[in-house]
This record gives sequence, structure tokens and C-alpha cells, in this order.
Amino acid sequence: MEIRQNFSLKNLNTFGVEAFARYYAAFKEEESLAELLHHFRELPQLILGGGSNVLFTQDFPGVVLHNQIEGIERLKEDESGVYLRVGAGENWHRFVLHCIERDWAGIENLSLIPGTVGASPMQNIGAYGVEVKEVIEEVEAIHRRSGEKRVFSREACAFGYRDSIFKQGEKEQWVITRVGFRLSKHPQFRVGYGAIQEKLEEKGIHTLSIQAISQVVCEIRQSKLPDPAQIGNGGSFFKNPVISQADFLALQEQYPHIVGYPIDSEKTKVPAAWLIDQDGWKGHRMGAVGVHKNQALVLVNYGPGKGGEVWQLAQEIQESVHKRFGIRLSPEINLI
Ligand code: FAD
Ligand code: EPU
Repeated sequence: MEIRQNFSLKNLNTFGVEAFARYYAAFKEEESLAELLHHFRELPQLILGGGSNVLFTQDFPGVVLHNQIEGIERLKEDESGVYLRVGAGENWHRFVLHCIERDWAGIENLSLIPGTVGASPMQNIGAYGVEVKEVIEEVEAIHRRSGEKRVFSREACAFGYRDSIFKQGEKEQWVITRVGFRLSKHPQFRVGYGAIQEKLEEKGIHTLSIQAISQVVCEIRQSKLPDPAQIGNGGSFFKNPVISQADFLALQEQYPHIVGYPIDSEKTKVPAAWLIDQDGWKGHRMGAVGVHKNQALVLVNYGPGKGGEVWQLAQEIQESVHKRFGIRLSPEINLI
């Protein structure tokens, strides 16, 4: 178990911004994690997975603990599905492909989301009409201070849109070590969201399969979202705001083309991308950072940009959108 000092995090975050950790250590087993937590008990601790949902705005004054717990265990299987226990350090997309190859359905719509399995419950990752909470059975975690091991049931995780107990009441308390999933042997294809159906038709695919859905989801994502290997980014910077139906109707009078997805009779979700785009920010560049030209919700680092510059731009967008639409955008990204 090697502990590094003054360690550069530039290659460990998809924004590609420079920041230094006072200490850095990777762990592959729960035992070494427990030792590290104890050893660094007096310092701030940051648990890092793939670094695809964090923005470092400054150096980290404590220890960065890099989760590399691996393993995909098949716990039980019956005619209807399979129960898996997966190491938190496994790459999410590789896990999706592992399931698709075996015809285990449920996460094909979540193809190509960067990051690790262990971070997936944190914000209840979602895309193309599916959220990971639908297949999570339980989450295993170790308490950072006491070392207590706990298994959180799906209900105990209090999942919501880009939300869970790990971002709320239990924020920064736990290290997720393994996640239990139930995948199905009888797929229920979800093609109602976004351009999936259109893309399937365009490709002449008439027989649905989880492989076909995964493939078109990957293609749609590649056409819209910048690849962090090419341009630094963290996916959607803000959450899509949920506003009251009354506020939505008032905005609709002023902006007849506003997009909204009703959640129930009282609330509507508005795409933050639409608000930012209408406010004229799409493609805007501020030094080394900017707003992506194809997706207004994605802030990018063209190269030498610093996390503080990205955050500065994000705050200007927040203010501007608030002034224009009366809606306050909340970051989806975790600011460090
Ligand atoms: P990190 O960025 O390393 O960590 C994120 C947060 O979780 C941090 O606060 C960290 O401390 C905490 N954390 C990480 N692992 C653990 C652990 N084991 N225990 C406790 N805390 C932990 N997200 C979506 O939901 N849907 C999308 O469609 C989507 N598309 C994206 C596209 C791009 C191009 C990018 C760059 C990001 C996208 N994201 C999307 C966001 C991101 O991929 C997810 O949030 C992902 O789950 C983050 O995983 P990670 O391992 O990189 O987490
Ligand atoms: N739009 C614009 N301008 C743009 C882009 C989009 O006006 O530049 C409008 C369009 O009307 C479009 C709508 O916004 O129909 C929604 O856009 P999109 O389908 O691209 O999705 P999104 O709401 O921006 C959300 C998630 C993504 C997820 C996709 C697909 C959030 C915060 N983001 O994006 O997740 O992949 O849906 O399901 O909920 C992430 O979390 O990092 C992420 C990429």
C-alpha cells in the first residue's frame, strides 16, 4: 500500500484540471481501506472513483483515497434473473458490457456512462429513461470514522433524481465498497426516451434486443457529448431544475417553445440545457474554458483551464439564467 505525497490529480479527473492532493493512496481491498481510514483519521478524506463527476477548484488538503476494489460475483440466479455483487472500483461501462454479453437486462440504457460502479448509487446515475436505483438491491459501505460496515437496502438509500442518502443526510460519511444488483433475464425494452426509437429505425433495427439498445445509446451519446479524452468535461454540470406547474405555465406564456417534462400534476422538469442555450451561452468561451457547442449543459476545459475558471463560468451562467428565467440551477458536479 503506497502512500504518495503532493500527488497530481490531473489524470484522475475528466475535466483534466490540475490539482494536488496532500496525500494519495489507492486501495484494492476493504482491509487496506480500513487501515488507510484509520491512518488518516485526522485529515479530510476524499473518496475518488473515475473522477468523472468532480471539479477540483483547489488543491486537496487531506488524503485522496482511490477506490480500486474489483470483482463481479454471481450470488444467485433463478429463471427470472441474476443477483450480482460488484466491487465499487469496477468500471461502470465494462460492467454494463459484462451484463449485456450474458443477456442480463436492466442497465443497457445506462451504457457509456463514465466512472465506477461504486459511484453509481451516489447520484443514482440515470440516462435514457432509466435510473440505476431500479436494479440496485443493496449498497455495502464502510463508515469513514468508526469503520462500521453497513448494508443499505434500496429503500435506505433514499434514491431520487440525481440524489441519494449519500449526498444528503449521510454525505461524506461512508465509503461504498460493493454494490448488489439484480438484473433480469426477461428484458423490458425502454425505447421511449429521446432519440432511441428514431435511431433504431434509422439503422433498420426492427427486432429489439439489449445489445441493439446499448449500441444506439452509445451512438447517441457519442454524437452529443464530448469525449473527456479529447476535451475535458464532467458531463452535465447542473441538474435539470424541477419547478411548479404554475411557474412553468407562466414561463410558457413568455417562451412558447420552452421544453418541459411533467413529473406530476404539480411539478415539471425543465432541461437546464434549454435554459442555458436560450440565454445565449452555448459555444461561449472564456479563456481556456467554455460551454460545449453541441450541449449547453456541458462545461468544458479546452486544455490549460483551472477548476476555478470552470466554476467562475458556472456561476456566471447560474446568475444569468436566474436573472432571465427566475430559476436557480444547482450543480450536479461535486465541487471539491
Ligand atoms: P467520482 O467523480 O470519482 O466521484 C463522484 C462523487 O462520488 C464524489 O463526491 C466522490 O467522493 C464520491 N464517490 C465516488 N466513489 C465513491 C465510493 N466508492 N464511496 C463513497 N463516495 C464515492 N451521470 C449520469 O447520471 N448520467 C449520465 O448520462 C452521465 N453522463 C456523463 C457523461 C460524461 C461525458 C461525463 C464526464 C460524466 C457523465 N455523468 C453522467 C457523470 C458521472 O459519469 C457519474 O456521476 C458517475 O457515476 C461518476 O463516477 P466516478 O467513479 O467517476 O465518480
Ligand atoms: N437542449 C437545448 N440545447 C442544448 C441541448 C439540449 O435546448 O444545447 C434541450 C433539448 O430540447 C433537449 C433537452 O434540452 O430535448 C434535453 O437535452 P438532452 O436530451 O441532451 O438531455 P439533458 O437533459 O441535457 C440529461 C442528463 C444526462 C443524460 C441525458 C440522457 C441531467 C442533468 N442530465 O441531459 O446525464 O445522459 O439526459 O438521458 O439530468 C450527466 O448526468 O452528466 C448526464 C450527461
